[in-house]
Amino acid sequence: MTTDRATAGRSDEASGTEVKPVAGHIGAEITGVDLADGLDDTVVAAIRAALLRWKVVFFRGQRLDHPGHVAFARRFGEPVVLRKRGSASPPDFPEIETTADRLELGGRFGMEHDEWLRRRRHTLLRGWHCDHGARVDPPAATILRAETVPPYGGDTTWSNLAAAYAGLSAPLREFVDGLRAEHRLGVGYQPRPGDDAYVRHLLDRQVASLHPLVRVHPETGERILYVNGYYVEQIADLSRAESGAILEMLLEQATRPEYTVRFRWEPGSVAFWDNRATIHLAPGDNAHLDFPRTMHRVMLTGDVPVGVDGKPSEPVTGTEPGRW
Ligand SMILES: [Fe+2]
Repeated sequence: MTTDRATAGRSDEASGTEVKPVAGHIGAEITGVDLADGLDDTVVAAIRAALLRWKVVFFRGQRLDHPGHVAFARRFGEPVVLRKRGSASPPDFPEIETTADRLELGGRFGMEHDEWLRRRRHTLLRGWHCDHGARVDPPAATILRAETVPPYGGDTTWSNLAAAYAGLSAPLREFVDGLRAEHRLGVGYQPRPGDDAYVRHLLDRQVASLHPLVRVHPETGERILYVNGYYVEQIADLSRAESGAILEMLLEQATRPEYTVRFRWEPGSVAFWDNRATIHLAPGDNAHLDFPRTMHRVMLTGDVPVGVDGKPSEPVTGTEPGRW
C-alpha cells in the first residue's frame, strides 16, 4: 500500500495520470487517461493502486463503447458472464449487463416498479448492497459506465467498509471478528396477497451463503466490516433479537456519512469500485422522474471471502464458486 501522500492529488509522471481524492475516506477522480486507448502497464498499475486505496475511482468524459468497456475490464481481471441478463443488455457482449430503468423494470413481476421497491424495502438502509453479495464468491469489482443520465437525480453513493471497521471501538471489533452471517437474496421481501410472481422468482433461484462478518481483503490485508442492508439475514449463533439489534448498529456504522462518497453521473462517466471493500446505494430519487437512465455494467470475478480466523465463506444454497 502506498501512503496517502503518495497517491493523493498528485500526478504520476510515469503513467501521466492524476488521482484526486474527492472525500475524506473514499473516492478519487482519475484524470489524464483515455480509457478507450490501449492502456500501458504503468497506467493500469496506477489505476489499481488508486482503486485499492480509495475503493472507488471515477473517470469523466470517456468515450468507451461495448468492446472498449470489456477490453478495459480485462486489464484488471476476468469479466463475469451471466447466464441471465436483463432484456436491455447487448446480445453480442455477454460480459455487459445494461439497465435501462424505465424500459425494463416496470411491470416485470406483474407490479409497478414503485410497488416492487416498496415491498423490498424492509429497513431504511435497505438499498445499500455489494453486487451479488449472496453468492459465495461475490465479484471483486464492478465497472459501471453511464450512457444516458437524468439531468438531476440518480446519483450513486458508496461507503468504505474498511474505514467503517476501523472506526469501531476495539472491544466491538474483537466481538465481530469471530462472527459469521447468512446473506440471502430476497431477505425481508413482503409478498403480495395471493400469487406473487416475485416470490416465485425468488424460490426458483434461491442464493444464500455464510460469510464472515469481518473479511480480510485479499489484496490489501485490511479488515472489512462485511455487512449490507440488502442480503444480510442473520448473524449465526445469535438469537434473532440479538442479531437484529447488532446488525442494525453495524449497518448504521457502515453507512455513516463520513465513510461515504456520492457521485453525480454524466454521459461518459465511469465508476470502478472494489466490491470487496465497499457497499453502494442504488439511487432512490429518480423513480418518480420521467427521465431515461441507461447504464452498462461489467463485473470482475472474485474470490471466496476469508474471515479473520482464515475460514472461507460457505455456500448455503444456489451458489458455487466460479459458476454463474
Ligand atoms: Fe449494485
